[in-house]
Amino acid sequence: MRYLYLATLLLFISCKKEEVTIKKQGIVTENAMVVTARAEASEIGLSILKQGGNAFDAMVATELALAVAFPFAGNIGGGGFMVYRTKDGDVGTLDYREKAPLTAHRDMYLDRLGNVIPYKSSMGGTSVGVPGTIAGVFATHEKFGSLPMETLLKPVIALAKKGVVVTQNQANNLANSREKICEVSGENTLFSKEYKAGDTIKHIAFGETLQKIQKNGRDEFYKGETAKKIIAFLQQNGSSITLEDLEKYEAKWREAIVFNYKDLSIISMSPPSSGGICLGQILKMIEPYDIAGFGHNSEKTIQIITEAERRAYADRSFYLGDPDFVDVPTERLLENSFLEERMSSFSFEKATKSEEVTHGTIQITSESNETTHYSIVDSFGNAVSATTTLNGAYGSKLYSEEIGMFFNNEMDDFSTKPGEPNVYGLIGAEANSIAPEKRMLSSMTPTIIEKDNKLWMVLGTPGGSTIITSVLQTILNVYEFDMSMQEAVDAPRFHHQWLPDEIIFEPDSFSPDLIQKLENKGFNISQKNTPIIGSITAILVLKDGNYEAGADRRRDNKGVGF
Ligand code: DON
Repeated sequence: MRYLYLATLLLFISCKKEEVTIKKQGIVTENAMVVTARAEASEIGLSILKQGGNAFDAMVATELALAVAFPFAGNIGGGGFMVYRTKDGDVGTLDYREKAPLTAHRDMYLDRLGNVIPYKSSMGGTSVGVPGTIAGVFATHEKFGSLPMETLLKPVIALAKKGVVVTQNQANNLANSREKICEVSGENTLFSKEYKAGDTIKHIAFGETLQKIQKNGRDEFYKGETAKKIIAFLQQNGSSITLEDLEKYEAKWREAIVFNYKDLSIISMSPPSSGGICLGQILKMIEPYDIAGFGHNSEKTIQIITEAERRAYADRSFYLGDPDFVDVPTERLLENSFLEERMSSFSFEKATKSEEVTHGTIQITSESNETTHYSIVDSFGNAVSATTTLNGAYGSKLYSEEIGMFFNNEMDDFSTKPGEPNVYGLIGAEANSIAPEKRMLSSMTPTIIEKDNKLWMVLGTPGGSTIITSVLQTILNVYEFDMSMQEAVDAPRFHHQWLPDEIIFEPDSFSPDLIQKLENKGFNISQKNTPIIGSITAILVLKDGNYEAGADRRRDNKGVGF
């Protein structure tokens, strides 16, 4: 068994003998790997793989372990997306995104004058969408699982009861959200207390809820005693979600978005996530340019990527929404001729102004901030890439002490009013307007990549609107700029999303000279401290068949394997 630890330095002698490139690698393992936002969740996923479980069994345990180890985003009160590739090369996705309740309507977050009511879609009971996570893990288990659900839940319940030690990052997250959690949920909940690094949080109520789910199955959450408690609690807190909403909730298997970038085949999430289409549009728009020749984070590379992002996010805003409600012109959006036309106004001389960019024109025949990602490869060759979220940090900040769960504030991902930005500054249009049982548009981009028809990379990240651009840069860093997985994940990132018309650079990571040159060409640059530009968890299949983890330096991410 080969097992090299993080920060192992490998010396690579390049063609020119005098040049020595030092690559920083993540851990490398031979058989299987799990990379998540927290060591405890990675270890639980790994323990399932070691018991002979497959990547889908590990998905169930890992997803739920994150609700304990990383309640900032891990959840049973939110939802997510999973992209998979089986050992036989079959690919697909599971959509366990939250839904708008049956009582929801287009203008539910507007006052009589048509203005957005502050915080109604982002805090407390009114912001909660019908949760999908429990449906998601049960659907995964039913279709692909090999070990009994009881076995998968056992280590999670044990972790909940034993408790999780608070890391410095987590202490900071809790401190930042504490006031709002107290405002929404009161002073007396588990998460209203003050915690410092090193403290242990025991999730007793959550453990008991999971035990009931272990005993009674999926229905416990959607129809049973827990369902009734959830509804009573939500309604007390201003939500209009009913038992009927829970009873009707189903996770959905959907076709993946699959496209090529040079000799890579990229498999990513389809609508209601914008991730796959947007990633595909951007990659295809930059494909004709020699960005490897221009260099990593060079002026020209940044220009091309930014201009492609500008056009893709403009299309996102107009065309994308829940495919069960709107016709998304997926094929046309990814067609080379359409994307060539979109980039025809690009010039290296100066920035395109976002106000001059609208969505591309497509003839349609009919009318038409918190998240976490984990990547798993098992010893059979199955791969799972899943991103799960409560939307904001601790979601709506609404925590049920009795059930031991936070509820999402995913309703804010809808376009509450066309033209009005959401918490990520994303502007939405009619395609993403609110309707009963509709799923809100997402940026989550769980992705799996094949090279030469074989598994090559598994990756994803949190980061709201920056998810797509973080995934994009990580792929390019390995493929075009020859970085190791860990280097690719750690490299400084930038982000552009059409509106606002600015490029966000990670602070203190780009040279003043480069920034000056871009400003001279008319780009607006922001280096203010954005909370994050992604936090990638990734796996790369190395040339010798081993796996390398990419666990982002920006947070507590951890890769483990055997
Ligand atoms: O689905 C989405 O796109 C957002 N709700 C994701 C939120 C997120 O990534 C927050 N993390 N920083």
